[in-house]
Amino acid sequence: MNASQPPDSRWQRAQLLREMGFSPQWRLRQQPAVGRQPSAVLADATRAGLHQQAVEQARPLPGGASADVPSAARTERAEQIARLGWDELAESVAACRACGLCEQRRQAVLGVGDHGADWLFIGEGPGAEEDARGEPFVGPAGKLLDAMLAAIDLRRGADVYIANAVKCRPPSNRTPEAVEMVACAPYLRRQIELIQPRLIVLLGRAAAHALLGDVGSLASLRGRPLEYREGAGGRVAIPVVVTYHPAYLLRTLPDKAKAWEDLCRARTLMRTAKGAATRPA
Ligand code: URA
Repeated sequence: MNASQPPDSRWQRAQLLREMGFSPQWRLRQQPAVGRQPSAVLADATRAGLHQQAVEQARPLPGGASADVPSAARTERAEQIARLGWDELAESVAACRACGLCEQRRQAVLGVGDHGADWLFIGEGPGAEEDARGEPFVGPAGKLLDAMLAAIDLRRGADVYIANAVKCRPPSNRTPEAVEMVACAPYLRRQIELIQPRLIVLLGRAAAHALLGDVGSLASLRGRPLEYREGAGGRVAIPVVVTYHPAYLLRTLPDKAKAWEDLCRARTLMRTAKGAATRPA
């Protein structure tokens, strides 16, 4: 708890932590500094048969697979999406018919927030309320996500961008299929390129799968040093934190404490990333 905060802000924070199910309150422990770590990259070709593209192994994750799609092997569509600015990206997503999810959507949901955010949170896909309103995480899971953000002094739209692995609602809120995440991957990749976040938080297994490939259970990814490589030749390494999806946390209260640990770790990584950026070379 920051003693310099005014009492009402401390009270609000305590309230938020209670709403998240954290009681007694957690304190941030010292975390080991994270240096350059094995790479995790957007894997839109991790499954043989989904894409004909060549898959080139990047620097592998400690315990599993990681696949990179070399830019030369990107499909024409992916190449075209990789050139879009925000307005064109929104138009392209709104008109997208690259997978079956377009059939039942009311509207595609690109994302929301600060285009220059340091923090990028990625969920699974829009639910019913998101499909109706055109904004990610506005239903019950979204309320918890907002509380999670507030618990680490963040706010939707202020240095935070929220996106999903797929931009259209999967029918009956089912988990998006791999082929749907593959179809949407160029949009997510472009969002990351445009935002250039300092840190990516993946909410749940589907988001982890979309960004890292099919590299294991969520439990095995939590707490692991991961990074997403961006830019030509993957020259920019963005740290990645994997945590539970808020909808899962609403059903599984005991795991909120683990999510809080993940958020604290994310905050530490962000501080490290900001510190590294301000230190003279
Ligand atoms: N769940 C998600 O993963 N994303 C949303 O936008 C809403 C619920």
